[in-house]
Amino acid sequence: MSKRIITTELIDEEKRIESSLRPQLLKDYIGQQKIKDNLKVYIKAAKQRKESLDHVLLFGPPGLGKTTLSTIIANEMGVNVKITSGPAIEKPGEMAAILNNLQDGDILFVDEIHRLNRQVEELLYPAMEDYAIDIIIGKGSAAKSIRLDLPRFTLIGATTRAGMLTPPLRDRFGVVNRLEFYSVEELKTIVIRSADVLNVKIDEKGALEIAKRSRGTPRLANRLLKRVRDFAQVKYDGDINIDVANYALDLLDVDKLGLDNIDREILNTMIEKFNGGPVGAEAVATTIGEDVGTVEEVYEPFLVQQGLILRTPRGRVVSDLGYKHLGLDRGELDEECK
Ligand code: ADE
Repeated sequence: MSKRIITTELIDEEKRIESSLRPQLLKDYIGQQKIKDNLKVYIKAAKQRKESLDHVLLFGPPGLGKTTLSTIIANEMGVNVKITSGPAIEKPGEMAAILNNLQDGDILFVDEIHRLNRQVEELLYPAMEDYAIDIIIGKGSAAKSIRLDLPRFTLIGATTRAGMLTPPLRDRFGVVNRLEFYSVEELKTIVIRSADVLNVKIDEKGALEIAKRSRGTPRLANRLLKRVRDFAQVKYDGDINIDVANYALDLLDVDKLGLDNIDREILNTMIEKFNGGPVGAEAVATTIGEDVGTVEEVYEPFLVQQGLILRTPRGRVVSDLGYKHLGLDRGELDEECK
């Protein structure tokens, strides 16, 4: 799965370069207008009152800029940010140490916060609410509980799956924001900005083509830009235009909607083997030799978001748009199948 060019996971080699492409201030952050407008108000208000910002929950698909936003919030507030993730904190003591080492106003960013284990999560409740935690010292009848006051920090939690947060944790966030997929226009602006940072020349049409094939996701737009840049450098004169973009993206097997060959295999399988559906994810997964969880969580959401697959109570169905995208006509196909 990590071999997919269009994976929305952050690939190791990208960590350093991605950070150089990340905007540092709200004014440079493209898209998510509503979230930005609201955050501006909350940040200004908290600064005027000389208080820490309320806890913030960011949710939405991977690659849309949750970490970037948290760094920007820290920069705008003029505080430090400590970045960690749910699975990285295994014991309550580790979380207590992290919290205790923060300074007033600092931000703790916890990615994949739905993956915190239960004891660590429970430690967060009083920490978020009262800026204090209770620590048990000693064992058995000699055990004593002492209250440890914490700095007045801000927790920014990020998750791809808001439905997996427990209600007590979710309720402790004062600000809850859902990040949306980016429009093609927004992605085009991001591609042009990133090209500028990377010092590569790109024209409007070239940027638009990369944007169209980036699945509404800046992380992908930046990844495709870097791959197209390689082709531009080796096969052309180094500049990116529509011809270079089309040439490179076709070679990378990312089609006009951003689908790769596995996405297309799913659609083809549904049409050829299951007459377009309705069919269960399990059956599709088995037929193409993939894990059902991967089909449901990785491939399907984008196909559904694009309206290529419809979810019905009886199973998944390929839509007219899905047939059309593969160059097929449902009518003709149905005739043949009769
Ligand atoms: N790079 C990645 N995401 C971005 C965004 N939302 N705005 C500007 N540059 C970005």
